[in-house]
Amino acid sequence: MWTVEKRYRRIEEVEIEEISNLMVKVKNCPWRQTFHIQPEIGLLNDPNGFSFYNGEYHLFYQWFPLGPVHGLKYWYHKKSKDLVNWENVGIAIRPNDYFDSHGAYSGSAIEHNGNLYFFYTGNTRDENWKRHPYQCIAIMDQNCKITKMEKPVISEIPYGYTDHFRDPKVWKENDTFYAVMGAQRVDETGCILLYSSPNLLEWKFEGEVQTSLENFGFMWECPDYFELQDQGVLIFSPQGLEPDGVMYQNIYQSGYVLGEKLDLKQKTLKHGDFIELDRGFDFYAPQTMLDPKGRRILVGWMGLPEIDYPTDKNEWAHCLTLPRELSIHEGKLIQKPIKELEKLRKEKVEIDTEIDDETRRFKGFYGESYELNAEFTNSTAEEFGIELRVSENEKTSIKYDSRTKQVIFDRSLSGEPVGETFGTERKCTIGSSTLTFRIFVDTSSIELFINDGEEVFTGRIFPSKDSRGIQFYAKGGAVKLKATKWNLDKCTIEKNSADKL
Ligand code: FRU
Repeated sequence: MWTVEKRYRRIEEVEIEEISNLMVKVKNCPWRQTFHIQPEIGLLNDPNGFSFYNGEYHLFYQWFPLGPVHGLKYWYHKKSKDLVNWENVGIAIRPNDYFDSHGAYSGSAIEHNGNLYFFYTGNTRDENWKRHPYQCIAIMDQNCKITKMEKPVISEIPYGYTDHFRDPKVWKENDTFYAVMGAQRVDETGCILLYSSPNLLEWKFEGEVQTSLENFGFMWECPDYFELQDQGVLIFSPQGLEPDGVMYQNIYQSGYVLGEKLDLKQKTLKHGDFIELDRGFDFYAPQTMLDPKGRRILVGWMGLPEIDYPTDKNEWAHCLTLPRELSIHEGKLIQKPIKELEKLRKEKVEIDTEIDDETRRFKGFYGESYELNAEFTNSTAEEFGIELRVSENEKTSIKYDSRTKQVIFDRSLSGEPVGETFGTERKCTIGSSTLTFRIFVDTSSIELFINDGEEVFTGRIFPSKDSRGIQFYAKGGAVKLKATKWNLDKCTIEKNSADKL
């Protein structure tokens, strides 16, 4: 039973033996990933503080160490030279002050005066369990030593908004720092608030960002504003949207609007429709950063709140997505896996063939963690696709139905079920007659990039160890197929011992 006491236990107060026992359970889990960031124990959620500082990439995540539940949140720190191989640095922010006593919630990072500043939400609860959020600053030096400011920099919730006020994302323009904040109006609709500061310490409430999404869910979490190819992009995770056709199938959504640049004086954002970032099952609360190569890179949480996952019984939950490089094409964000991931490629197999009303397997096409690139052309088939992690009783299907022009990701037979009440299929419409699928398969996840990042589907799957087959099929006609598969190496992550957590 996850009582309040259990959810709010502090890792500092737990015997090493208990942590070692949790680590053993995690180690025995058949679904540990090999090239994704995942927690050593406990539950990971949002990516935080994603940045490049002092010659390295830094990425933090929301973390409850002592079980696979949303409890007392810490920030855990990873760093990397290449965004592929990661080092465990340790706990970055501990929720041990009056202003973050019930969780060091999500936030972002920016370099200033030679240090890395974190702007995050301190979550607190009073004796009646009423929430009060504070917006807080912590500062990291070149040795990765982090010091919190003694007091929060924003203690008041602006008039007209509720205590759902969190997740600052900061950026700098000319000499001024700005931050967007996720918020809820008193009428229980979601929105974004804008703040400004000359020095990251004194913040002024500028007002609500006026969008054309007046009544769009009850709370907007994890906003992120940036400019790309001369356009303004606002990413956020609205809660409370109803399913609409193939859209909004998950418990909560994550998406973006594109448009003119944010008018910082008028606080207006003129934009197009809200578009979901990912069409899959497990994707939420992404965060972006601008890297020294000028790339806008996004990482998301490969998970969703309020759903049980099969890894829970092994005392851990969730991972982060692979980093994706963003660009804009024809009014849409295009997401491509970053180039550096090619470093993981090992043994390669290729085929160039035709599949004609049949299901086929090919030599070398099997495995548990690999990258698979498939190009389908000249289709006369009613349906064609790829089945992954196949055994006698299990398979995960990625298929194209040419009658409806839909790509379908079907995990109904993938193994241990997850989030079944939200359905076992995700779909999206693709107009083009040539289709490319670039698929990253890890022990318990699939990331599918369609047509070079036009659409992305991310989903966890929990197959048994011996479900390793890959097969290609076409029904009611033929399709030409070129496919390449690389086994992927494990990324290196220096392992922690219980006393280093
Ligand atoms: C999104 C979120 C954020 C919050 C954090 C707490 O998943 O709910 O709004 O800051 O998680 O862990």
